[in-house]
Amino acid sequence: AERGPLAGRRVLVTAGPTHEPIDPVRYIANRSSGRQGFAIAEAAAAMGADVQLVAGPVHLPTPSGVTRIDVETAREMAMAVDAALPADIAIMVAAVADWRTAGAAEQKIKKTGGALPVLELAENPDILAELAKDPRRPALLVGFAAETENVLDHAQAKLARKGCDWIVANDVSGDVMGGSDNAVHIVTADGVESWSNLPKDQVARKLMEKIADAVVR
Ligand code: C5P
Repeated sequence: AERGPLAGRRVLVTAGPTHEPIDPVRYIANRSSGRQGFAIAEAAAAMGADVQLVAGPVHLPTPSGVTRIDVETAREMAMAVDAALPADIAIMVAAVADWRTAGAAEQKIKKTGGALPVLELAENPDILAELAKDPRRPALLVGFAAETENVLDHAQAKLARKGCDWIVANDVSGDVMGGSDNAVHIVTADGVESWSNLPKDQVARKLMEKIADAVVR
């Protein structure tokens, strides 16, 4: 795909969950399927962009025309994002684990019949917030916000806190995570645009059209 409104533009997308190891056989995870992020990468490629997709562990085929980099943990995702720069546009869709274990056990943790194991956690890097402060910050930086309550308030606060340009907010109190549809609100400095519930591939196409309108002048 070399033609289309995003021809020649470098687009970076993160997608999926991250897995944070507890020991060699166990991990901390979340319900993200990667579907929305993969659909966005596919839509961007179809519009002619040069797309790099940094994917956490998901069960999805690579969209055509997309360069995929597979990672497992948040720290691996941060390094892959760094290596994928520069980009004109970044869309951070991944549901990055907020915490990892402070040190994964080298051997499988065994039941002892006595004391329960205690998982000590450490905070993961905030990939989006760090990219916002990076000298190589993409000209358009889009974050996602999955919330279960006060969706718009949290999204507006997140826009300021993360230093990105847009937040795509959705209510995940239902079965959005892993599901096929998504109802989103696009929160920018100019206000809020709310879209009706749509299949994730249509959300992706609409979002990429809005992005192309914003960057192609
Ligand atoms: O703070 P919260 O996790 O709700 O923020 C969501 C947004 O930030 C998403 O765009 C997500 O991809 C990004 N994020 C990130 N690195 C983290 C946590 C979130 O890039 N460690």
